[in-house]
Amino acid sequence: MTESAVDTARPYVAAMVDELTAAGALRSPEWAEAFAAVPRHVFVPRWYEQETNDKGIAVWRMQHALHEGRLTGVYRDATLVTALDPDTAEQIDETAWTGIPTSSSTLPSLMAGMLEDLSVEDGHRVLEIGTGTGYNAALLCARLGDQFVYSVDVDRDLVDAAQRRLSVLSHEPQLMPEDGQNGYPTGEQFDRIIATCSVPNIPTPWIEQTRPDGVIVADVALGIEGGLVRLTVDAKQRAQGQFTATSGRFMAARNDAQTYPRRERAPYAAETGTHPTKVTAADIRGHYPFRLLLAFHLPGAELVYHSDDATGTMSLQLQHSDGSWARVPMTGDRLDTVTYGGTTEIWQQVEAAWKWWNDTGRPAQDQFGYTREPGGHASVWHTPDGRRWNLGPH
Ligand SMILES: C[S@@+](CC[C@H](N)C(=O)[O-])C[C@H]1O[C@@H](n2cnc3c(N)ncnc32)[C@H](O)[C@@H]1O
Repeated sequence: MTESAVDTARPYVAAMVDELTAAGALRSPEWAEAFAAVPRHVFVPRWYEQETNDKGIAVWRMQHALHEGRLTGVYRDATLVTALDPDTAEQIDETAWTGIPTSSSTLPSLMAGMLEDLSVEDGHRVLEIGTGTGYNAALLCARLGDQFVYSVDVDRDLVDAAQRRLSVLSHEPQLMPEDGQNGYPTGEQFDRIIATCSVPNIPTPWIEQTRPDGVIVADVALGIEGGLVRLTVDAKQRAQGQFTATSGRFMAARNDAQTYPRRERAPYAAETGTHPTKVTAADIRGHYPFRLLLAFHLPGAELVYHSDDATGTMSLQLQHSDGSWARVPMTGDRLDTVTYGGTTEIWQQVEAAWKWWNDTGRPAQDQFGYTREPGGHASVWHTPDGRRWNLGPH
């Protein structure tokens, strides 16, 4: 990367900083300065843009930042997919692939919001989980200084590429190829941990590696939905805080550098019946905080799309790890009918959650707290009235 390419990008970088500031994602001069100092295209020289090709297949088409006119593609508020799982990626033509993304450069407004929520101060030592392109690590270096920045990624190739790109800007943070669920396992203690991949529960090593009163900002994936939490770790290693007003979701932490393990699922229960419902697929799809509440009510459940082979009707389906399920159609004239297999309990929970959420004035996600006890047991609560849901040692 030549100095002139970095120079060419300066107006684009400045415009993105203005946009993020106007949107309220950048809230402090310190982070605005860090974003202004780091050209994103150094870390994202190429990425994959999703499109439907001429055969009607959804493909990832490779884009190059330094091709004529493409810098604007990097300097916009968009998540840019940068790696595809080699197990599922299939080359379709010279520049397009199918496959599941395994790394990306996060939406800049989300990154800015999380970094602001981290409330770092000069001299803080920060661990990032999920190095990816290295862009966020570079922002941390620009804000704090290289010696205070540590970052791990499960994929060694990504760590190596990030290191090369960071060195273009003369940054040398401490990088390590490692399953980030182990934190940075060299006995360091951190003032802050920020995770850019999601975890089902806060891993014990993160708690142990955060100094008392230190802060963790991470995405907890609770099954049906998940969200960003900002937790303070106390001297007894309890982590407690709130879901943040900054909302966004991350790809799940993998145990393996290459791909995601296949999930074991109980066989579907046979269809048991139908009944009318007040809660439609649009209600679930349209309200993020309500989905989060559903995840609190049904910690063992997932939300999936279901396509009926006979009619082609797409439905939104909640399915429990025990094989029970309930679904509501997304189209057609039976939007207010739920069909279920196994027990009716899942949908009773959905209706109860919908009633409570509406009766309580439709609280947003930052009205909910999250606690992770030292043994791993987690619970959430509605901060104004204290109503609590146990998530278990999930
Ligand atoms: C959204 S990307 C991170 C973006 C990155 N912070 C950046 O600025 O480009 C998520 C990253 O998490 C990594 N990841 C997934 N599972 C992981 C794990 N168990 N430990 C560490 N990193 C993991 C992925 O390889 C991927 O690079």
